[in-house]
Amino acid sequence: MSCRVVVLLSGRGSNFQAIAEAQLPIDIVAVISNRPQAAGLAYARERGIPAVAFDHTEHTNRAAFDDLLADEIERHQPDLVVLAGYMRILSPAFIARFEGRLLNIHPSLLPMFPGLKTHERALAEGVKVHGCTVHFVTADLDHGPIVIQAAVPVRADDTPATLAARVLQQEHRVYPQAVRWFAEGRLEINQGRVNLKGDSTSQSVFSTER
Ligand code: GAR
Repeated sequence: MSCRVVVLLSGRGSNFQAIAEAQLPIDIVAVISNRPQAAGLAYARERGIPAVAFDHTEHTNRAAFDDLLADEIERHQPDLVVLAGYMRILSPAFIARFEGRLLNIHPSLLPMFPGLKTHERALAEGVKVHGCTVHFVTADLDHGPIVIQAAVPVRADDTPATLAARVLQQEHRVYPQAVRWFAEGRLEINQGRVNLKGDSTSQSVFSTER
């Protein structure tokens, strides 16, 4: 039986698209957005994937909104919930409900640059290597167990936009890979760290721009 996946997104949805097109052993059973206008919803509908908006601006209470969202997700009986550019902080109760089956992608080499504006901050710090991270979500924002990372060299003439574009290309490689590993049952969390079963060298959990 293939792995049932629910995707949450807020905007463009290019990571969702990369996952949907990667021919993974998964069934994307629903796409949910907190923004009705999210391009990712339109793409889902084009592919015949059920897509719904849960507009957070119609709810003042974050915890109550997250409870409704969690109920909607549970209805689809997912094995995995994928955050693909879902730009809202999730309540502790929501995270507890899905912990161990909740993945996120973040546009930095965590634990560096959690939060927003990661590319601007990387350039401001003068780091020479930047990248992205797929991790399990825990109550500790942007600090959950790391599944895979990809690095890109920072160029002298990079702007936040050029750097973001090159990091995004890597996001589109590593997120489908992480989802594949999850679906294949190869990810094991042990004391806050992810072990990739069958990869004693850990070579495949790190990649670089080519
Ligand atoms: C991606 O760069 C993702 O890493 C980032 O939002 C973008 C969504 O793009 N996520 C975060 O910053 C989460 N804190 P997409 O909608 O095209 O996938």
